[in-house]
Amino acid sequence: MSTVSNAMDNIEVRPLNFDVDKIEGQNPVWSRSHPLFSIYINALAIHVPYFERYLVKGLRSVKDQVKNERLRQDISRIIGQEAHHAKNFIAINKFLAKRYPEVVKLDGQAKDYFEASLKNDDIKKILGIIAGYETFTYMAGMIILNNYDQWMQDADPVLRSAWVWHQVEEVEHGSVAFDVFRYFYPQDHGYRRAMIIKAFFHIAAETIPGYVTMIKKEGYLKSPWKAAKAFGFFCNFSYQLAKSALPTLGKNYHPRNHPMCSTTQSPIAISWRKFYSSGEDVLQMDNEQMEKMMNTGNPV
Ligand SMILES: [Fe+2]
Ligand SMILES: [Fe+2]
Repeated sequence: MSTVSNAMDNIEVRPLNFDVDKIEGQNPVWSRSHPLFSIYINALAIHVPYFERYLVKGLRSVKDQVKNERLRQDISRIIGQEAHHAKNFIAINKFLAKRYPEVVKLDGQAKDYFEASLKNDDIKKILGIIAGYETFTYMAGMIILNNYDQWMQDADPVLRSAWVWHQVEEVEHGSVAFDVFRYFYPQDHGYRRAMIIKAFFHIAAETIPGYVTMIKKEGYLKSPWKAAKAFGFFCNFSYQLAKSALPTLGKNYHPRNHPMCSTTQSPIAISWRKFYSSGEDVLQMDNEQMEKMMNTGNPV
């Protein structure tokens, strides 16, 4: 069995709280390596905490019906991880709103949308949407960690640390929502596929208004070249997400067998987990600390 399976076998709840007051220069464009990446991920994440709370409540409502003890344990752990993600992302949204006031409205709309969906959707749809969404948080986790050097090698310590933490944990619990859906609806492959497609378009629709607001504020719409670059990045990331999701539509797919991680784990994920376990500070990792982490982790 590959080391990847080991990562998914050890889902750990880490109650971290990132301090937005310590963000360098209070600048939301936190990646110097790739400013557009930081703008894109800021925009995408506006709605994420409300999906995470939807996931927490949805999975909690079915947990006691799961007779498989291992899966029940994994449900408890994904709930723990996502609850902490949501708390941090809501704090980050408040920080983002200082520079982009429209974030307040977008945050409120996302909250209303997911709260209404939780009230109105039947349990099959709730579990389907959770599994669909978690397909992309898992894929994005792999894509972002694989592009670490290009997208955030030089970046603000607080927000980079928050994103590395989040992506490591998204990969770690990347099979739980899938396993829960399959536990209750083992034959409903068509429904699962439809929910993946629905989640993809929903994520894009949630991201676009925040992204346009942010690139406008940061001056990307002042020249056609810069605007093309900004929309090009959006399209490129969406394309990578869609492409990586293709194997998930297969009838025999399981997250542990996804080609992106069926042979090896991200060295950053391996190192980060070891670094965290050894009691190192993972809340504010500057470039030097990140290098130390990679050396300490000694990935193989
Ligand atoms: Fe999350
Ligand atoms: Fe997740």
